[in-house]
Amino acid sequence: MDSRQQRLLDLRDILNRHNYNYYVLNAPEISDRDFDMLMKELEALEADFPEMADPYSPTQRVGSDLSDKFEQARHIYPMLSLSNTYSIHEVDEWFGRVRGALEGEKFEVVGEMKYDGTSISLIYEHGRLVRAVTRGDGERGDVVTANIKTIKSIPLELRGSGWPDMFEIRGEILMPWKEFDRLNKEREYNEEPLFANPRNAASGTLKTLDSREVARRGLDAFFYYLLGPDLPFDNHYANMMAAREWGFKVSPIMTLLHSLEQVDQFINHWDTARRELPVATDGLVFKVNNLRQQLNLGYTAKSPRWAVAYKFPAERACTRLRFVSFEVGRMGIVTPVANLDPVLLSGTVVKRASLHNEDIIRSLDIHEEDMLYVEKGGEIIPKITGVDENGRLPGAKPVRFVHFCPACATPLVRVEGEASWQCPNRFGCPPQIAGRIEHFVGRKMMNIEGIGEETVEQLYKRGYIKNIADLYDLTTDQLLLLDGFGPRSAERVLEGLEASKSIPYDRVIYALSIPFVGDTVARKVAKAFPDIDLLMAATTDQLAATKDIGPRIAQSITEYFANPANRETVARLRAAGLQFAAPEESTEGATDLLGGKTFVISGTFTHHSRDEYKDLIERNGGKNVSSISRKTDYVFAGANMGPAKLEKATSLGIPIIDEATFLDMIGQPL
Ligand code: IVH
Repeated sequence: MDSRQQRLLDLRDILNRHNYNYYVLNAPEISDRDFDMLMKELEALEADFPEMADPYSPTQRVGSDLSDKFEQARHIYPMLSLSNTYSIHEVDEWFGRVRGALEGEKFEVVGEMKYDGTSISLIYEHGRLVRAVTRGDGERGDVVTANIKTIKSIPLELRGSGWPDMFEIRGEILMPWKEFDRLNKEREYNEEPLFANPRNAASGTLKTLDSREVARRGLDAFFYYLLGPDLPFDNHYANMMAAREWGFKVSPIMTLLHSLEQVDQFINHWDTARRELPVATDGLVFKVNNLRQQLNLGYTAKSPRWAVAYKFPAERACTRLRFVSFEVGRMGIVTPVANLDPVLLSGTVVKRASLHNEDIIRSLDIHEEDMLYVEKGGEIIPKITGVDENGRLPGAKPVRFVHFCPACATPLVRVEGEASWQCPNRFGCPPQIAGRIEHFVGRKMMNIEGIGEETVEQLYKRGYIKNIADLYDLTTDQLLLLDGFGPRSAERVLEGLEASKSIPYDRVIYALSIPFVGDTVARKVAKAFPDIDLLMAATTDQLAATKDIGPRIAQSITEYFANPANRETVARLRAAGLQFAAPEESTEGATDLLGGKTFVISGTFTHHSRDEYKDLIERNGGKNVSSISRKTDYVFAGANMGPAKLEKATSLGIPIIDEATFLDMIGQPL
């Protein structure tokens, strides 16, 4: 097999992974543009090697957002996508192809904004909305009528007259930036995962089972396509203007263009003007206006020939590299970071951007103090995408990756099978040690209040703590010597350490910073090996036989416990009183006092943490759910519960209980 054939196979794996991230996890790792580029590369290779065709290749399907929670319906007209272009030149080529295919006939083009949300198909019969269906796999989609009805700008009954008895209208469901920011702030407060962009927020919301929650989220919609057997006009533009009269929020950016020059002007104008819009956009769409000409031009397997999308370039700035710093994380991985002259990009000042690893520095050929291009795509983190070589200073040397740890000078080692370098000095390298301690005290681990990054740094620098076990030997006198500490803050730290002794076993395992053991793995390990002696005695094979634990994780765990220094740390933590065994599930503490009742827990608490309460709910036979619906039995409210939740619970007549009431219910009165 030659290297291009190997690339073809690799691309299938890569695209499958990105599809999964996007559609299943709702957490894309690359921009749509990068995804499209990879897809185009794969399509080209498959065309060159027809013998390698595979019906399971990612090129053989359009993405799907189908979910098993909704009823599904077949689209009357399949929902195709548009072919993408990335430059004026490519749009001009499309224009040329249309002109050629129409054999000199005059034609007009409608230029429109391409909104970045999720598409919807609405069916109207006799002037009434009867069904709303998502795109799904293009052939069939989810019926989300109840959710769509909560969007106030969508007419349930049409105004005016002249609408056909039956027609379909398509548009984009959007979450305006303002609503998106508000929702993410609220989610951050409630410790729920954030949405990466308004598109994910809109599609996630549309798939919410509780339409009251949908109503609360401020979705909007713009419409851009009318279909049906007897539309009032013979052209797209006039039909859309008619739809506006019937009460639809037709996209306000929809312009008749009569020449290639006008098309180019439209692009140049909106390339920058779109930044002022209150909603996310990712490009422009050009459509041949006349419906008969559309029919003439027809379709390819995936998209109409009569339309094309132009994707906006990611916003980009060019700025000078001050220096590259090499930063050591708690696992010893050394990450190069570009420190930049501050530059404004999509509304925020960018000063630093990760360069990820050595290969990236090399492939971009970055030299000292180069002018670098920084981009922000649809996602939030800035990325270095290239170098402006005209800005290179005479005599500038290429940036070289370090070969010794910048913190402790130990020679770095290459991480097997990966592009990263690691400092192997786990127990002597200061940022690794401090990083592990910071991880240990963090909110999702031991949740030790009163100790943050700065306190850990001070404690470590003064020599009071050299590892996580030393935390439990801290004294009031030591704490009082720290900058900014008084008796009250010292007491808080000691109380925090005391409270951490009841943090459950699985979180203790997560807090240890065993390589490759994140919170999910820790939970699985804790379940399979319910106390630390069993876990420490387990062989790599026994660990690897556990569901969802692969050989790499298994080996990492045995290596961790084979190390005498780690065993000593564990022994000291155990002596300090931390939880090193899972609570006996069926016996100790487990009751059925809550008898299957569902709880929504919200706000902050004083007697236990929110996670501890969730645990108590489950251990006493109740269920935790994340949003309030008619089926919720209790809303368990702490301080600062969001006003929207409160209002919702009240309007549905769901009892709101406080800590004292809850503890009483499980027989642990205050
Ligand atoms: S027309 C057959 N017009 O872009 C053509 N689509 O990649 C149907 N979109 O699935 C689409 N704004 O979700 C059209 N003004 C616009 C659009 C638009 C956004 C989305 C839509 C579609 C996707 C195509």
